[in-house]
Amino acid sequence: MDEAERERPRLGRAAPVRVRVPAKINLHLRVGDLRPDGFHELSTVYHAVSLYDEITARSGDTLTLTMEGEGAGHLPLDESNLAIRAARLLAEHTGRPPYARLHLRKNIPIAGGLAGGSADAAAALVACDALWNTGLTRDHLADIAAEIGSDVPFLVLGGTALGTGRGERVSPVLAPGHTWHWVLAFADDGLSTPEVYAEIDRRRANGIADAVAGEADMLLAALRQRDPEILAATLVNDLQAPALALRPELMRTLMAADDVDALAGVISGSGPTCVFLAADSRHAAAIAASLERSGVCRSTATVTGPVAGARVV
Ligand code: C5P
Repeated sequence: MDEAERERPRLGRAAPVRVRVPAKINLHLRVGDLRPDGFHELSTVYHAVSLYDEITARSGDTLTLTMEGEGAGHLPLDESNLAIRAARLLAEHTGRPPYARLHLRKNIPIAGGLAGGSADAAAALVACDALWNTGLTRDHLADIAAEIGSDVPFLVLGGTALGTGRGERVSPVLAPGHTWHWVLAFADDGLSTPEVYAEIDRRRANGIADAVAGEADMLLAALRQRDPEILAATLVNDLQAPALALRPELMRTLMAADDVDALAGVISGSGPTCVFLAADSRHAAAIAASLERSGVCRSTATVTGPVAGARVV
């Protein structure tokens, strides 16, 4: 059977749906109080960047997930996988059987602070929504997304957005169309998000006064000015100090920002991926090459943002 024949829908079966979903970085991340539900109150600015995972959903008689790429052979493909959870939850909400064959092509590293798992959940939601023709509104989809994880609603939305609550309440940032250039520096091993949040609690309980990120106003103003030098001075992340405490060698990667002439370097979300801001695409390519030569990271990717959220392609 050739590729075209394989893709042809069988009688009564929906055509396959392919969805592309970006990674996110946090341009601003302020961690507030620990809430009774175990989450922290957040004020964040999410930014979707052009590093993508892809999910293809086909009709099936059960719910299955296969994958290739980053983390294949390590990432569990069972009920604990966020893509499976997303498909099941959507089926529950729409009162239909959760039947689909999902295939994930993964580029976003696992446990990298780039919301890779949440991205896959967002992609699975959008893919199954189209495959099953549920007719749900974007708002309803965002509600289901929030049940899966704090970052999932943003990955359905994409662009640049303010996140509040535990991060699940998102509203687009109305910044003029401008493309920002970034270099992502990937680490060998992931960091556990709950452990990084636990470390910030421990540090606060012990009176270790990490510099707390201020309001996002400066950053939002910098985005409007389209000047990377100004934006560089406003990037902040309250999770950076706890991530560095858990993984001190990341300091070498961050410190490399000066040597490689980046405008700024910051840890993405709960880490360990480090993000460097570049003035333009040539600058980004030069930063990536210097980082690779210096051996302070596993590998790099040059990306741009903002880009759209999970979309059928
Ligand atoms: O929402 P999500 O499942 O992605 O969160 C993963 C973990 O990160 C939570 O279980 C919690 O430990 C921590 N977290 C937090 N406060 C947030 C978001 C996440 O403490 N606002």
